[in-house]
Amino acid sequence: MAENENEPIENERENMDKTEIAPSSLAGIAAGHQPKTPGSNVMGVGLEARGVHAWFGEKHALSNVSLDFWPGTVTALIGPSGCGKSTFIRTLNRMHEFIPTAAMAGEVLLNGEDIYAPGVDVTKIRLKVGMVFQKPNPFPSMTIAENVLAGLKLAQLKSENKDDLLEECLERAGLWSEVKDRLNTYGGALSGGQQQRLCIARSLAVRPQVLLMDEPCSALDPGSTLKIEETISHLSSSVTIIIVTHNMQQAARVSDYTAFFLSAGGPGQMVEVGPTNEIFSRPKDKRTEDYVTGRFG
Ligand SMILES: Nc1ncnc2c1ncn2[C@@H]1O[C@H](COP(=O)(O)OP(=O)(O)OP(=O)(O)O)[C@@H](O)[C@H]1O
Ligand SMILES: [Mg+2]
Repeated sequence: MAENENEPIENERENMDKTEIAPSSLAGIAAGHQPKTPGSNVMGVGLEARGVHAWFGEKHALSNVSLDFWPGTVTALIGPSGCGKSTFIRTLNRMHEFIPTAAMAGEVLLNGEDIYAPGVDVTKIRLKVGMVFQKPNPFPSMTIAENVLAGLKLAQLKSENKDDLLEECLERAGLWSEVKDRLNTYGGALSGGQQQRLCIARSLAVRPQVLLMDEPCSALDPGSTLKIEETISHLSSSVTIIIVTHNMQQAARVSDYTAFFLSAGGPGQMVEVGPTNEIFSRPKDKRTEDYVTGRFG
């Protein structure tokens, strides 16, 4: 990455140590991120949600969400607590159906094919659409190396050269230089931020096309958060990333597109989606404007 591309992140590093950034500066941060546009990346067709609804028992949690995720882009999902962001991303890799009483309707197309079609192998879908959670969850009794390669066993994938794959995944996750001399120590002994990057490396080992990240930095300090953001920026040329975040500065820094979710007494809905710099500078919907300027939420 060229030096000048790092400048917004460096500037933010200083700001994050100080007090809250004025909400109006979000547009400036977003303008500093060079957005990718559809068609600028040749990586398959991408992921499309069409008319997705979700329920927990009788409770209608999410209503009629349609969103396209273009290959090689980063999309941030923002909105107040309880508006269905986590529920929505769990429908994108069929994790929603793990939850007792959960139901869904609608279509999710990966490379043009509905992942909910009869006969689809759910395990394969979860490998193509990986997930990183809020709390880092490395396998504590496994070494760093075993953690990264753990998915290969579960997926019954064979790798020609495990050492190369290990290095490649840790490098892409931005962790290699910090752990290359202690690959056989326990993953649980790493710092929280390192553990989260280890989890990203573990997701990458099975070569996902899409990576879902549900508030991946909410348990991390500002320095670790910035490392994850740098990792996201690097990865986005090869993986489509969907990240849920409550951190507006983070959405402005890392994402190409931002989707705003809201549940006003009823099921969660997607109010508006657009290029991130537009969502933070001239949103179309008043509710989006109120949220991104900190008037509620
Ligand atoms: N396992 C569950 N069982 C029943 N209801 C649930 C379950 N998970 C979520 N819900 C409900 O679905 C709605 C959407 O929740 P969800 O966790 O998707 O929101 P969110 O936008 O991710 O919130 P947050 O920002 O707090 O993480 C909420 O009303 C929540 O109470
Ligand atoms: Mg959530």
